[in-house]
Amino acid sequence: MTAATVPGAAQPREYPVRIAPSILSADFADLGQEVAEVAPAVTTIHVDVMDGHYVPNITLGQPVVASLRAATDRELDCHLMITDPRTYAPQFLELGAESVTFHPEVEDDPLSLVHELHERGGQVGVAIKPAHPLAMVEELLPHVDLLLVMTVEPGFGGQAFLPEAVPKVAEAVVWRHRHGAHLRIQVDGGISRETIAQTVEAGADTFVAGSAIFGREDRAAAARELAEIAEQVRRGVLAR
Ligand code: DX5
Ligand code: ZN
Repeated sequence: MTAATVPGAAQPREYPVRIAPSILSADFADLGQEVAEVAPAVTTIHVDVMDGHYVPNITLGQPVVASLRAATDRELDCHLMITDPRTYAPQFLELGAESVTFHPEVEDDPLSLVHELHERGGQVGVAIKPAHPLAMVEELLPHVDLLLVMTVEPGFGGQAFLPEAVPKVAEAVVWRHRHGAHLRIQVDGGISRETIAQTVEAGADTFVAGSAIFGREDRAAAARELAEIAEQVRRGVLAR
């Protein structure tokens, strides 16, 4: 069963299309300007935090998130590719991020961390890598606000989209419908004008895009184009 065959499972009104530009592909020496350029087209900025342990790359941490918070009123969606979210996730909320997403396999008791982050007033997401089945996070899904389905191996921007991850999006839509749960489904990695449609068809509602936005001269136009494609595909899915 795909998302399109689940009645009411991917209601645009309940889960509006969100394009979340990943600043990983932005010019870090000019981050304020980069965010200001894309902000008119989006509600959310995706912030990839990497610690060099969970993934073989180091990106940014608390000082950058603090500066971003001062520079924009857009939601900051922190994707924590780190081995110690219990220590650091609360700090990103404290700095003003609206949501934090972590990879739960690094925690002995990820559910208690979800609860702790909710108590601190944040939205909470859990992420699955391409090799991880949905079953790995199923027990957490009733408790989180967002499921992040990685469509590349976490660690770097600009990688090729992995279509084999997409069926998990449809599976999550079916799970959500069956459990009457409320959960946004985000895809992250290799999302572009060429690849976004298949993730919309599967039922994703939140689309992280780094190089497809910051690799273009007009960042806002790039984000709007992705949103327009997603809306068009949705209209087609619903009309079936
Ligand atoms: C990868 C990150 C992504 C990345 C996406 O580990 O989680 O958010 O920035 O970049 P693109 O869209 O270029 O694949
Ligand atoms: Zn990310």
